Amino acid sequence: MLIVSNWKAYVDDAKKVKALFAAAKRLASKKVQIVLAPSAPYVGFLALGNRSKVSIGVQDISDSTGGAATGELTAGAAKGAGAAYAIVGHSERRARGESDALVLSKTQHALAQGLKPILCIGEHERDTDGRYLQFIRAQLAAVFAPLSTQERAQIIVAYEPIWAIGKTAADAITPSDLQEMMLYIRKVLAEYVSGNATVLYGGSVESGNIASLASGVDGFLIGHASTDVQEFTALVKALS
Ligand code: PGA
Repeated sequence: MLIVSNWKAYVDDAKKVKALFAAAKRLASKKVQIVLAPSAPYVGFLALGNRSKVSIGVQDISDSTGGAATGELTAGAAKGAGAAYAIVGHSERRARGESDALVLSKTQHALAQGLKPILCIGEHERDTDGRYLQFIRAQLAAVFAPLSTQERAQIIVAYEPIWAIGKTAADAITPSDLQEMMLYIRKVLAEYVSGNATVLYGGSVESGNIASLASGVDGFLIGHASTDVQEFTALVKALS
């Protein structure tokens, strides 16, 4: 299982950063791989010289290559600071205007630097006509179709229905709806990738529901519940 901790903008304090990193190092095992995605200023702080089992990722990257681009976090700089993963297309970035084309460009920049992209997809709402399935298919196609076979094989997909993000376990997707979605996403991905793609679930995953959502997924992208040492410990333990 792969656990990606997306700290979003929840963790500002260096002491807390260190405590969460220490907890992740204790919890990482053969069975549970852990990737931490801290706020940008803490990426190098955790990743430079990191020889632990825990990997570090960035929450977003620039679609610029470098040079005169003040404030941009390039894939090259992320790689240079020791990051190994890059979340792209998170719904909170898309809500700020990121198009599928921009998400594709960011994915290409990550791939060019050898960062593993974690591509977030997810519908705003569910309708009874199944239009949300077409929406998911289109989000996947926009990124996968233009890439080479080798590039496609690098991408981790995180299914995060927007209606289920940032709430509590009671609002997460039901295990049976999740299994159905996983089958659908894997079916779409089979058009682009030979072999098994890595597909994560995210959205209100907590220690109380993680075990019930674990069947059919390769891991989780976890926000708020991963930013508290006790809760993070409990949720990783719930998987073991
Ligand atoms: P949440 O966020 O776990 O706080 O719902 C998940 C995410 O948006 O990555």
